[in-house]
Amino acid sequence: MSRERGTWSPSASTLNKAKAVMSAAEMSGNLYRNGLGMIASENIVSPMVQKIVASDLHGRYAEGLPGKRYYQGCDDFDTIESAGIELARSVFNAPFANIQSTSGTVSNIGALKALAKPGDEITAVSTADGGHISHARMGAVGLRDLNLSTYPWNEERMEPDIDGACDLIRSVQPKVALIGQSVFLFPTPLKEIADAAHEVGAKVMYDGAHVLGLIAGGVFQDPLREGADVMTGSSHKTFPGPQGGFLLSSSEDPTFQKKLNNAIFPGVCSSYHLHHVAGKVIALAEFEEYGESYAKDIVKNARHFAQALAAEGFDVLAESRGYTASHQVLTRHGSTDSGAGAKAAQLLEDAGIITNMNMLPGDTKALTPSGLRLGVQELTRVGMGALEMEEVARLYARVLIQGEDPSQVKKDVSELKSNFQIIRYCFNDEEQNGYLL
Ligand SMILES: Cc1ncc(COP(=O)(O)O)c(C=O)c1O
Repeated sequence: MSRERGTWSPSASTLNKAKAVMSAAEMSGNLYRNGLGMIASENIVSPMVQKIVASDLHGRYAEGLPGKRYYQGCDDFDTIESAGIELARSVFNAPFANIQSTSGTVSNIGALKALAKPGDEITAVSTADGGHISHARMGAVGLRDLNLSTYPWNEERMEPDIDGACDLIRSVQPKVALIGQSVFLFPTPLKEIADAAHEVGAKVMYDGAHVLGLIAGGVFQDPLREGADVMTGSSHKTFPGPQGGFLLSSSEDPTFQKKLNNAIFPGVCSSYHLHHVAGKVIALAEFEEYGESYAKDIVKNARHFAQALAAEGFDVLAESRGYTASHQVLTRHGSTDSGAGAKAAQLLEDAGIITNMNMLPGDTKALTPSGLRLGVQELTRVGMGALEMEEVARLYARVLIQGEDPSQVKKDVSELKSNFQIIRYCFNDEEQNGYLL
């Protein structure tokens, strides 16, 4: 290897490392091209989003807000971000939108920075009941050094015990009443909680990371009109954009809005990944056009999939409530803390079905839970409907109930998926010939 100017060529070993990384990325693409992506927090981005995420914007900076930048050369990006703010306000029906945050967690850290100071009280759903790690002392709540009290949980209804949550809020008098979970089957009755929170001077923060696309599509709940002051979320789960976050508010108050903007920049971001912001703007435009039908189809598929799994003999949670009102379905595969969820997830992966193990009510150990959390938003995005939900439930049963060799089932998984290679609910739908990676 020579490092002289003009004659440098990479050593075989570093080039091979880079090639191995390229090849692993391609294999990962193949896994989902041939298999079924059913992790509830994931999605695939449209061809137009893929293109803009790989654009020159990737390498640029634009600190500040449109028209008020710390860097030159931002005029075109100002056009993009201004269009995005308008679109986000329209898609989420929100008086205020900040689209800069680089993830749902970063949105949460920013919101907590704006709404509370170290030593303040916060109430939230515990991680054991489906709350996110950023709602816990191990995550953003701890980072902000807030004192956490968790709501009592109604296992039957899979939501906070509303009277208990209101009592907790009235007794703790938090600065922030945080609502929302990673395991999110049903809308939270928000109004009562918001009334209790506002009574004691708390702000209501709704974490819609998982269900943001369902909210924007009008099929879940409408937190900003049900009492939430602030709504955070990821831009890449049921909202099908690139990885990133949103920070939204029902407040018309310019001082509060400025506080929220400042909490993102300079609060928790410097460069805020302009290529992803641009991708979010395209995804917002696509959502404005196709989002409502996408959201409806997701929930219809989730219910149908849950019913089909139950018909195959699976223990599907929340039967008394019709299993689900979101994109998620929860299944139990053994006794509490048995690790049966982990085993089921591995067998399914061996059959080309990608899921994640999940704690269910009663489980106490995150690494040996009894359940699976399944999401249908990605299968819906490639055009699967009721018949395919039944077919997928049968594939689950072959692996997990009939005990068939997963490698045999994998062939049928791949066959099924071969008919669903086009990303739907987005622009230039017809011109595609499959995933880019
Ligand atoms: C409720 C909730 N909030 C926040 C997050 C974090 O989102 P991100 O992965 O975009 O940081 C998640 C992730 O799944 C989540 O479930």
